[in-house]
Amino acid sequence: MNEHVASSAATLQQRLGPAPAIAVLLGSGWAPFTDQVQGATDLPYAELPAFPALAVGGHKGLVRVGAVGGKRVAVLAGRKHAYETGHADGMLGAIRSLAAWGVKLLLQTNAAGSMDAAMRPGELMLISDHLNVVQRSPLIGEAGDARFQDMSSAYDPALRAQAVAAAGTMGTALHEGVYAWVLGPQFETPAEIRMLRAFGAQAVGMSTVPETIIARHAGMKVLALSMMTNMAAGMDNEVLSHAHTLATANAASARAVATLAAVVQALEIR
Ligand code: HPA
Repeated sequence: MNEHVASSAATLQQRLGPAPAIAVLLGSGWAPFTDQVQGATDLPYAELPAFPALAVGGHKGLVRVGAVGGKRVAVLAGRKHAYETGHADGMLGAIRSLAAWGVKLLLQTNAAGSMDAAMRPGELMLISDHLNVVQRSPLIGEAGDARFQDMSSAYDPALRAQAVAAAGTMGTALHEGVYAWVLGPQFETPAEIRMLRAFGAQAVGMSTVPETIIARHAGMKVLALSMMTNMAAGMDNEVLSHAHTLATANAASARAVATLAAVVQALEIR
């Protein structure tokens, strides 16, 4: 284990106590989930040497531990994106620190464009599998056989079934589908969206896939929830922008956050 990871894991333990089983990594639009956490204790990323320094506005960069519906969880607000540096390993140290601390499940959230006409802005999709379209890996530079990480069932099938059931009790229709990771930061062309649809993806976004690879390699289970903030390029006549993404996310966040809380409460990790 690298020194920064060991020291970050020790600080997490010292300041926040024993690791909860679940860490929720919040993406664009999901920040209000931090308000669901009761009896919260916060630790800024800046105090954890393996954690990234964040630039994009709206991302606080903090680990919060507390209870959601009586269940203790860790919430990570703030992600380093590959479009900031060109590298897929921005969250490598952070996620390895969570694993070293003792977290069992990385529950990710993100904002994505819908490539399925039946999946509308504001709706949620549970990721069943992904396409690493970027073909960049956070594991470049690793040595040894463990780098050849198996990626079948990357999004835990048993936990996915639990998540769908939990969303159902809330009356939230949870779509399930394949998420295509693009580098960004520009949005896609309509031709690129036609290609990704032909490849079999239903949602497109600029995050999550590197973190899934890191977490699986670190021995954690993974679940991921995408909030559709727009129809992908060429599918509607809208002009895409980050402001548009955030506006839709804000409008949809109350239901999304309530659904996430229900999922967190229901999950039983073995
Ligand atoms: N494309 C890529 N990333 C996104 C999109 C999109 O349409 N919407 C939100 N994140």
